[in-house]
Amino acid sequence: MHRESLIRPLNIAVFGSGRGSNFQAVLSAIQQGRIPNADVRVVVSNNSSAGILAIARANGIPAEHISEKKFPTPEAFTEHLLATLRLYDVNFILLAGYMKRVPVRIISEYRNRIINIHPALLPKFGGQGMYGMRVHEAVVAAREHFSGATVHIVDEEYDRGKIIVQKKVAVAPDDTAESLAAKVLAIEHELYPEAVRMFAVGGVLLDEVVE
Ligand code: GRF
Repeated sequence: MHRESLIRPLNIAVFGSGRGSNFQAVLSAIQQGRIPNADVRVVVSNNSSAGILAIARANGIPAEHISEKKFPTPEAFTEHLLATLRLYDVNFILLAGYMKRVPVRIISEYRNRIINIHPALLPKFGGQGMYGMRVHEAVVAAREHFSGATVHIVDEEYDRGKIIVQKKVAVAPDDTAESLAAKVLAIEHELYPEAVRMFAVGGVLLDEVVE
């Protein structure tokens, strides 16, 4: 098949639970024309007061608060999430600080089309419970010389999907978890837009990432 024929516009849904700075970085890159062929269709959060929803609203992007707690069964929640994705014609999902597990049905329906950014150099310092400051605390405690950020495909195993791109940052001897977190976040804001751009221009061919 011809390479170009695999490229289709990215209709993106962003899932997040918190402040949304990575979403903001990707959105700014799209708005400034640095990511062609991509559009954020909807932002979804389990947390009604998340900054990520406020950013979406401020930019005229549909902001959906969808919490599993409001549904009688996990299946009903998944069904609603899928219906929302279809409603906005979503074909690509970005996790940006999403603190919930993505239902397996959605992972399989969007196979190789869900990516996440993790604030460390996977496969180190990932897995269940490794999120937020815990990651940076563990990196500092292990006296690592480098940390960084990783963008990877989301599959059924936490932080284990295929790595798309990574960026390193040096850990200084006097770095604390807080100072390291700030350094890593700054490179996340460069790396996530770059990763989305790779998908948008066809730099990552979907059949290349099929196991
Ligand atoms: C980032 O550090 C990201 O790596 C992790 O969650 C954090 C989200 O931050 N998955 P923000 O909401 O994008 O500011």
